[in-house]
Amino acid sequence: GLDAVIFWGSQSGRAEIFAKRLSDSLEVRFGLKVLVADLSDYDHSSLSELDIHHVCAFVLSTYGDGDPPDNTEGFWRTIHQLLESGSHLPNMRYLIFGLGNSKYRQFNHVAETVDRVLQQLRANRIGDVGRGDDANGTTEDDFLSWRKKVEEHLKAEFGLQEQAGSYKPAYIVQELNQVHPHAVFKGEPHRALLRKDPHMRKLVDQNMPRVLTVIQAKILWESLDRLCLHIELDLGTDRLLKYKTGDHLAFWPSNPVREVNQLITILGLQDSRKSVISINPVNGSVHARESLFSPTTIEALFTHYLEICGPISRETVQALSHFAPSEKIKMRLLHMSDDADRFKQQVVKKHMTLPDLMKTVGEDLIWNVPLSFFLEKLKAMQPRYYSISSSAVVQPQQVSITVVVDKPPADISEDFKTASVGGWGLATSYLNALQRSYTRNVSEEPSSPFELNGAHGLLAEHKIFGCVKRSDFKLPVRASTPIIMVGCGTGVAPYRAFIQERARRKQMGQQIGTTLLFMGYRSIASGFLYKEEWLKYQQIIGKDVFKIWTALSQEPGESKVYVQNRLAENAVEILNLFEEDAACRIYICGSADMARDVISVLSQMRRQVSNEDEKTSSAWIRQLRQSKRLLEDVWH
Ligand SMILES: Cc1cc2nc3c(=O)[nH]c(=O)nc-3n(C[C@H](O)[C@H](O)[C@H](O)COP(=O)(O)OP(=O)(O)OC[C@H]3O[C@@H](n4cnc5c(N)ncnc54)[C@H](O)[C@@H]3O)c2cc1C
Ligand SMILES: Cc1cc2nc3c(=O)[nH]c(=O)nc-3n(C[C@H](O)[C@H](O)[C@H](O)COP(=O)(O)O)c2cc1C
Repeated sequence: GLDAVIFWGSQSGRAEIFAKRLSDSLEVRFGLKVLVADLSDYDHSSLSELDIHHVCAFVLSTYGDGDPPDNTEGFWRTIHQLLESGSHLPNMRYLIFGLGNSKYRQFNHVAETVDRVLQQLRANRIGDVGRGDDANGTTEDDFLSWRKKVEEHLKAEFGLQEQAGSYKPAYIVQELNQVHPHAVFKGEPHRALLRKDPHMRKLVDQNMPRVLTVIQAKILWESLDRLCLHIELDLGTDRLLKYKTGDHLAFWPSNPVREVNQLITILGLQDSRKSVISINPVNGSVHARESLFSPTTIEALFTHYLEICGPISRETVQALSHFAPSEKIKMRLLHMSDDADRFKQQVVKKHMTLPDLMKTVGEDLIWNVPLSFFLEKLKAMQPRYYSISSSAVVQPQQVSITVVVDKPPADISEDFKTASVGGWGLATSYLNALQRSYTRNVSEEPSSPFELNGAHGLLAEHKIFGCVKRSDFKLPVRASTPIIMVGCGTGVAPYRAFIQERARRKQMGQQIGTTLLFMGYRSIASGFLYKEEWLKYQQIIGKDVFKIWTALSQEPGESKVYVQNRLAENAVEILNLFEEDAACRIYICGSADMARDVISVLSQMRRQVSNEDEKTSSAWIRQLRQSKRLLEDVWH
C-alpha cells in the first residue's frame, strides 16, 4: 500500500490547516495512511530513507523577504547540505504546495526553492508546484485546483481507487473527572503559565508569552472607518524579557464572548461548557500543537485556543454539511459552498464566522458536531505582531505599540460584526475593547465584548499575554550614520522608536547623521501619527538634520500623493547620502504594496540620477538588501 507524510512549514498557521486538509482528502478519498508533521519536529536526516511506497507532500509558506518560516529553517538547511554533499533522493516522490502573496517580490520563494533543490537531488515531483496567492484572496481556490490535479496524478500513477468517504475524527476528546483545577488550561498561551503543573518550567525562553501590564492606552485619531490606538505596556521586572529598538511585540488575543456563547449554544454544550476535557491526536503525536493545551475546558478551547472568528473555507462548509441538523440545512450549506462566487457574496464578504454561519442557516436547531471537527478545521489561535514604537534606550522596561483598527463597513449586518465592538479583525477588536476598559478605569466593563480578565483572572486590571519577537529592523550602531525612513500608516511605528533614540543620543552629546522621514497617510483628519512628537524631536535633533516629508493619499480636494512621489522629488539628496556614507541605510515599513512601489521608485531614481541601466540599478538594490542597508518591515 501507499503511505503519505505531509510536512507543513508555517509562520502564522495557514499552511498547517492546508496540510491537514490535504491529509483528510487523501485519507478519506483514497484510504491512504497519512502522517501530518510539523517540519521542525521531523528528523530530516532520515529523508533519504523514505522508500517508494511513501509519498511526501510539502505545504510551505514564504515569509520575510522570501524566507522560510521559523519551523522550516532546519529542513531548509538540511536539503541545502544534502545538495552540497552530492547526495541524491531518487526514491522520494513528492507533492508541493506553496502559500504566498504575489505582492511580495519573492512570490512563493520557499516552495519554489525547495522544489528546485529536491529536483537537483533527483527526487520526483508528482504534478505541478502549487502556488497559493493571498494577494487576490485566491489561496483557497488555488489549493483546491492544485489538489484536484495532484490527486488525478496519484490515481493514475499508483492506481488508487476512490472510496466512499466517512468522517474519521483526528482527535480523541474525552471528559475528565479528576484533574487538579490548576493543571487545566483556561486560556494560558503557554504551559509555563499554568499555576500548577507537574512539568512546570521556568519562563526561560524569551519567546514564551508572559503577562504584560497596560500602563497607557489611548486613541490617537479616529475617522468614520478606522481608528488608531497607542498602547504602552510594562515589561515588569523579568530580566529575560528585554527588547531592542525595532523589535516586534507578539500579542495573544481571545475570541469575543458572544461568538463563543453562540457556538456553545448551537452545539448544545451549555451544561458542559466548564467540563474538563483531554485532547489527544488519534495518530500519536503528530498534532502536538493543539494537544499542548490539554486538559482544558470546552469554553477555554473556543475562547482562547481556536480561531473561531477567522475566515471560513468552502471546504469547511462542505465538511460541516455532514453534521447539519436537517436535510434542508445540509442542502443549504452545500448550495452555498458549491460555487466560489456565491460563497464569496454570501459568506466571505459578510465576514461570517463559523458560529455566525451555523446560526444563520441553523434554524435554532442543535448541531451534533464532534469537537474534533473544530480542532481539525480551525486554526490554532495565532499571536499577532506589532512593530514596537518605543526606544529600548529611552524606556527599556516599557514598550509601546501603534495599532490601526478597521471598523466594519456600515452596510454589514450587526449580526456579523465581530461582537459589535467596532472592529473588523480579532486582535484589533480586542485591543479596542481593552483601550475602552482602560480609559474608563474599570477592570471589566459588564458590556465588554471580550473576557478581558483572562484565565484565572491572570489578566485582571488591564493585562495581556505577549512577548518580544526579535527583528532585523535595527538602527545603525553609529548615530552619525545617515538614515532614510519610509512608512505609511502605522508603518511609522518603529520610526518613532528610532527618532526617540536619536534624540536621546543627541542629548548625550553624540553627533547625529542626516535623518530623513517620509510618512504617508490618508488625510489630515486620519493618520498623521505623533505629529507633536516629531516636531519636538526636530527641535532636539535639529531641523537641518531631521527632515520630514508627508504624503496624503486621500485628502479631499487634493491630488493623491504617495511616499514614493516624495522620494522621487528628493532623489538627488537621497542618492548623495548613499554616495557619501557607505553605511547609509534605508528603511521601509508598512504594507507590502507600498514597499514594492517604493523599491521600484528607488531603482528608477538610481537609473535617472546615476544614468544606470536597469540591470545595474537592480544589482544596487540587491546589494543594499544583502548588506542589510535596505531593511523592510512589511505586512498586508
Ligand atoms: C511583522 C509585522 C508587524 C506588524 N506591525 C503592525 C503595527 O505596527 N501596527 C498595526 O496596526 N499592525 C501591524 N501588523 C499587522 C497585525 O499583526 C495584524 O495583522 C492586524 O492588526 C490585524 O489583526 P486582527 O487580529 O485584528 O485581524 P484578523 O482577525 O487576523 O483578520 C485579518 C484580516 O482577515 C479578515 N477577516 C477576519 N475574519 C474574517 C472572516 N470571518 N471573514 C472574512 N474576512 C475575515 C479581516 O477583515 C482582516 O482583513 C504587523 C504585522 C506583521 C506581520
Ligand atoms: C511579514 C510577511 C512577509 C511575507 N513575505 C512573503 C514573501 O516574501 N513572499 C510571498 O510569496 N509571500 C509572503 N508573505 C505572505 C505569506 O506567505 C502568506 O500570507 C501565507 O498565506 C502565510 O501562510 P502561513 O500562515 O502558513 O505562514 C508574507 C507575509 C507576511 C505577513
